[in-house]
Amino acid sequence: MSGSQKHTILAIESSCDETAVAIIRGDGITSEILCSEISSQIDIHREYGGVVPELASRNHSLTLRPLVEIALKNAGVTMADIDCFSATAGPGLASSLLVGHTAAKAMSVATGKPFVSVNHMEGHLLSPFIETNEGIEPNISLVVSGGHTMIIHTEEFGEYELLGKTLDDAAGEAFDKVAKMLELPYPGGPEIEKMAETGDPKAFRFPRSLLKRSPLDFSFSGLKTAVLYTLSELNKEEGKAPAERVPDICASFQEAVIDVLVRKTLLAAEQVNAKLITLSGGVSCNQALRNAFQKACDEGGYYFLVCSGVLSTDNAVMIAYVALQKHLRADYQDLTCDVNPNMPLNTIKLR
Ligand code: KG4
Ligand code: ZN
Repeated sequence: MSGSQKHTILAIESSCDETAVAIIRGDGITSEILCSEISSQIDIHREYGGVVPELASRNHSLTLRPLVEIALKNAGVTMADIDCFSATAGPGLASSLLVGHTAAKAMSVATGKPFVSVNHMEGHLLSPFIETNEGIEPNISLVVSGGHTMIIHTEEFGEYELLGKTLDDAAGEAFDKVAKMLELPYPGGPEIEKMAETGDPKAFRFPRSLLKRSPLDFSFSGLKTAVLYTLSELNKEEGKAPAERVPDICASFQEAVIDVLVRKTLLAAEQVNAKLITLSGGVSCNQALRNAFQKACDEGGYYFLVCSGVLSTDNAVMIAYVALQKHLRADYQDLTCDVNPNMPLNTIKLR
């Protein structure tokens, strides 16, 4: 397949609580986002304080069909214009993944066009390159989402080396759990960021787990426990923080997370002599994290790349972008290909 020929890809993302459909057109270097539709279920799950899998899959099946129609209309294309259909195969909630994966397969069968199955984390990993129009360049990447915290060395598309990962909670999970302790709404990340804006990050000295034996791995459980102890110290009777201390706790917690994320990513970049550092995943929406990375990269002489906020949290454009790369390499999956809720990173080539 020629590199300069444009191909149109439709992708579905339904791994968790967002039903998303996107259509992009590109040649692997330059990509045009024709549409990106996201139907969020956050309001449905908020009252339960987290995602309820049964509700998530039911809502994906209700939402998906109309969302595909809206996507085609907004992109100004028809089914016949799509060159390849794709969907997230994992990691994620099995029943949610199945809805999108099966729908994309069905569209592939109905149109006779190929089907590509995509690893959600590869979508996040490569998302900073979608809007650069320069293709994928060698980099050190920090991927921080609700389920994963990973430092990955990328040489080129499909050539990835996992250098570090979390040994317990993911960074986003730590944000969500601490928010729950503080009785802030779900999802906790954006709520903590909002609260932190008026707080003092030096008010509490929370621990930074640097893990000397495996310095590129992460652990956030000690930090989470430290916040819990602080809360019970501040209010011995009810074990929760007085409202006026919540901004200081949020700011101090956020700074502890950011400090560790930045330090370890820069250490990895130094180890592999990388020139470019990228940041992706839902937590990369956090402006304080972005600012800290930009500052550290400027000081350390690295280029820094992070995508716009709408491409940081779950979306289907990132799935379409990976699918386009696979389509250009004719790396198709057949209809026996199944979803994998625990899809490991080694479905991405590891050294
Ligand atoms: O990538 P994502 O949308 O979904 C997963 O693949 O997990 O990430 C969701 C995570 C949640 O834990 C959410 O609290 C966190 O990203 N998040 C944030 C912010 N926005 C979303 N964490 C910190 N600050 C934010 N502004
Ligand atoms: Zn995600």
